[in-house]
Amino acid sequence: MASYDVIVIGSGPGGYVCAIRCAQLGLKTACVEGRETLGGTCLNVGCIPSKALLHASHQLHEAEHNFAAMGLKGAAPKVDWAQMQSYKSDVIGQNTKGVEFLFKKNKIDWLKGWGSIPEAGKVKVGDDVHEAKNIVIATGSDVATLPGVEIDEKLVVSSTGALELPKIPKKMVVIGAGVIGLEMGSVYARLGTEVTVVEFLDHITPGMDAEVSKTFQRILKKQGLSFIMGAAVQGVETTKTKAKVTYKLRKDDSEATLDADVVLVATGRKPYTDGLGLEALGVTMSPRGQVETDAHWSTNVKGIYAIGDCIDGPMLAHKAEDEGMAVAETIAGQAGHVNYGVIPGVIYTSPEVANVGQTEEQLKDAGHAYKVGKFSFMGNGRAKANFAAEGFVKILADANTDRILGAHIIGPMAGDLIHEIAVGMEFGAAAEDIARTCHAHPTYSEAVREAALACGDGPIHS
Ligand code: FAD
Ligand code: NAI
Repeated sequence: MASYDVIVIGSGPGGYVCAIRCAQLGLKTACVEGRETLGGTCLNVGCIPSKALLHASHQLHEAEHNFAAMGLKGAAPKVDWAQMQSYKSDVIGQNTKGVEFLFKKNKIDWLKGWGSIPEAGKVKVGDDVHEAKNIVIATGSDVATLPGVEIDEKLVVSSTGALELPKIPKKMVVIGAGVIGLEMGSVYARLGTEVTVVEFLDHITPGMDAEVSKTFQRILKKQGLSFIMGAAVQGVETTKTKAKVTYKLRKDDSEATLDADVVLVATGRKPYTDGLGLEALGVTMSPRGQVETDAHWSTNVKGIYAIGDCIDGPMLAHKAEDEGMAVAETIAGQAGHVNYGVIPGVIYTSPEVANVGQTEEQLKDAGHAYKVGKFSFMGNGRAKANFAAEGFVKILADANTDRILGAHIIGPMAGDLIHEIAVGMEFGAAAEDIARTCHAHPTYSEAVREAALACGDGPIHS
């Protein structure tokens, strides 16, 4: 039995970042992980592998569609699916090994196995019980299943199965037009699969600024994805090699079916806390199965904290990471803080879609007087040169004070561009602060500046 200042359960972006920060702050730290490799959902079956496949399939699209126009002639590359999978595995390996290296460097013990909390101050892993002054639950999330749909990870897959299909399917039905459905749907559409997305609501990507969501759907349709909107999936039947999806249209209750080689279920994720023993400990849970915490990530049981996907808030790696750092600082007696108003969200399709702060709909509902500054990438020289002029930057600022309230970008490198606005918002910037900052030419960032100018006297290039 060993004794620690902190034991973190789970080594995803929440858990491993928390463990490293704890160690940096001089706390004796261990991290429990039941998987074979560190890094959680994100590094093993989430953010990293999906981005590898998005990157590879985007390169193919560029070769097929834009190379010839630039004078790069010749046959477009052929897809070697096994090699693409091996590239993806290699990228995962580099990242998970990287976390292992960081644990060693920071003298963090990896307690291998599935952990539980038999009582406050104790963590059990296998037959060993370790003492911990503080315990951080960072056990993440798991796929949420849908009534009538059984995931077999062969014909009916979750994102995990979709990342490692044995072959590229001819026809894929994606249930849910959220982040996973559209990222993975884009990958397969670019690799030649006929992709149909069935979505319960009348718009894709719920919660996104409506103008961006509409533009995004139009662009995806142009890229070959089909959408059946306002349709509730009733069930999926499978034979040995095929699947049949039954859905009901909400407008008239009519039922229809779709055939597919593979069905991807992407209707959300749920917090994962199985086997921890939280019920016996009396830890308060929300009706949605999340661990309830106060403003300092403490549960109702002293010395037990929780962060990341298993608590309230967006299920995003960087949100989990920020909570991991903040809770470590709190445990070390510092003032850990997360600004939940400035957490960017990014969808890594092509073009990318990114947001931070409030949407126009949220501002309208709140009765907040706002102004809109918009700039199309059509007016951006770099975007035109790079065949990436689709989309726009939209900045929402307070009508009276000019303070930035939110930003929404659909376009090239949107996921990187959004951070200029995020930093601005952290500093309480006005749109004019961005507009008066010199931006290098020719960069995509100039479109952000032009949108900021559009909040004032107007952009130059439109
Ligand atoms: P997790 O990463 O889920 O890690 C929890 C870890 O705890 C797991 O390794 C699990 O094995 C371990 N664990 C659980 N219970 C125990 C136990 N009792 N004992 C020991 N170990 C245990 N987010 C983004 O921000 N950007 C993206 O691009 C992105 N892409 C995604 C793509 C996909 C396909 C998916 C599924 C998710 C994606 N996400 C993305 C979401 C992101 O992966 C999660 O928000 C993030 O991983 C949450 O981190 P976490 O530390 O809370 O939990
Ligand atoms: P999601 O919540 O983003 O989208 C689920 C979609 O399914 C919604 O549009 C919903 O209306 C629809 N839906 C629900 N039930 C349905 C039904 N019966 N029939 C048809 N449609 C139905 O969930 P998703 O895409 O599974 O992602 C889970 C989480 O993973 C997200 O919270 C996201 O934060 C995270 N993630 C983040 C990524 C990123 O940051 N780039 C990438 C991938 C995942």
